[in-house]
Amino acid sequence: MKKETAEMLVSKAIEARKKSYCPYSNFAVGAALLTADGRVYTGANIESVSFSPTVCAERVAFFTAVHAGERDFSAIAVVGGKADQDVNDFCPPCGVCRQVMTEFCKRDFTVLLSDGKNIREFTLEAILPESFSSVD
Ligand code: THU
Repeated sequence: MKKETAEMLVSKAIEARKKSYCPYSNFAVGAALLTADGRVYTGANIESVSFSPTVCAERVAFFTAVHAGERDFSAIAVVGGKADQDVNDFCPPCGVCRQVMTEFCKRDFTVLLSDGKNIREFTLEAILPESFSSVD
């Protein structure tokens, strides 16, 4: 993906991370999801005192976009780290979020991770190989 597009998406994920509600883990995550026609939907993790209702940043972004009628996605940027610090390490998506990506995206969907300095780029196929999938 183009460097400018990747940098734009990472900076939107960093901005979205500010809206994280994470009083239990103190680990704030932000995500920015790019549609095939160039729109961006963002998310941050939202936690619950009973823990299991917690939703990751990536799924907030996906479900917001899907509920807005979007079905065609090209990339997501994910950033995370201690809530009282700037992002300083990579935060790979959890397995549940990878499965949700598989629900709506093809194998060549781009997953961008940033530690605040560098950007690493993966395909969905690379981070969830041999997946159980409804999409080719
Ligand atoms: N979290 C995400 O938002 N995305 C991930 O892919 C990994 C984990 C959140 C869930 C929880 O609120 C916090 O990070 C600590 O696990």
